[in-house]
Amino acid sequence: MITKRIEAAIEALTNGELVAIPTETVYGLAANAFSEQAVKKIFELKKRPLYNPLIVHIKSVDDLPLVARDIPEEALQLARAFWPGPLTLILKKQKSIPDIVTSGKDTVAVRVPDHSLTLSLLNKIPFPLAAPSANPFGSVSPTSAAHVQQYFGGEVSLVLDGGPCEKGIESTIVGFEDNLPVIYRLGSLPAEEIEEKTGALTIKNYDRKAPVAPGMLNKHYSPKTAFRLTRDVDTLLEEFAGQKIGLLLLTERNDLRHAIAHQEILSATGNLTEAARNLYAAMHRLDALNLNIIIAERMPETGLGSTINDKLSRAAAE
Ligand code: TXA
Ligand code: MG
Repeated sequence: MITKRIEAAIEALTNGELVAIPTETVYGLAANAFSEQAVKKIFELKKRPLYNPLIVHIKSVDDLPLVARDIPEEALQLARAFWPGPLTLILKKQKSIPDIVTSGKDTVAVRVPDHSLTLSLLNKIPFPLAAPSANPFGSVSPTSAAHVQQYFGGEVSLVLDGGPCEKGIESTIVGFEDNLPVIYRLGSLPAEEIEEKTGALTIKNYDRKAPVAPGMLNKHYSPKTAFRLTRDVDTLLEEFAGQKIGLLLLTERNDLRHAIAHQEILSATGNLTEAARNLYAAMHRLDALNLNIIIAERMPETGLGSTINDKLSRAAAE
């Protein structure tokens, strides 16, 4: 059921049920982070491997000590600068967090989401919420209550409807190695904005064998339709001429020399913030059209353009 009633969400979560929650990034599939049994349901419903840990959502930076310990000063500074917001920090975990949440690691991923409905929910329950994105493992993340409903139908009893997600792409994940910040997943907080606080950052988001964060898995965010990413849309249009083609473009093209079935424009003005917001909904729409191929145009490699390219290249991975 889709609802805007927080009371219904409180009741379900308190009873150990799952509730889909809105955040500024994507919708999450939430459970009581202190309850091993409740969290187990998340892994089952998503068909998510148990080695892939979850993000714990808290109501404010003041609650950090409830879930994390030995917090580096630099982490606190980032938390104060960007929370509530699309930044996830990897910190040493407290005993209160069951192993299932962190896949047995001694670290926990934590953030304060920037969405009024979910913040007021978090303020009314005595436990934090463990929540991955509310999509089956490996598929495109949901940015509306309707997307969650399409994925899970009756299987999740409650979807809290907070409207379309304002950012539209997952949070940026930052961990610490020898107390130095490292980006493990590009996300809706541009790396450049973090670097204004920290100085130049290492980005370690591509690790084929042993992903630190499975947002790092090469193949991820995948539509069912064949998907290609390119700098040169025209050459691929040539290659797939005569087939049912969908295009995913930053801005509109009216000089195309081949017939296409459908095109999605991410931002009429080429604004990358708007493009990020629209990305997943455009991918959901394209994927519903029974196309032979989706051809996506590579974005400018700056700010959120880098984040979008990262998601698109994982969608296109073999
Ligand atoms: O924006 C977001 O982050 C959304 C909303 C719902 O908050 N959540 C989200 O969750 O994207 P999910 O499960 O799709 O991605 C969580 C990522 C995974 O790549 C996971 O591997 C990583 O966080 N992660 C969780 N705990 C970790 C840990 N202890 N060390 C390293 N990576 C971790
Ligand atoms: Mg996800």
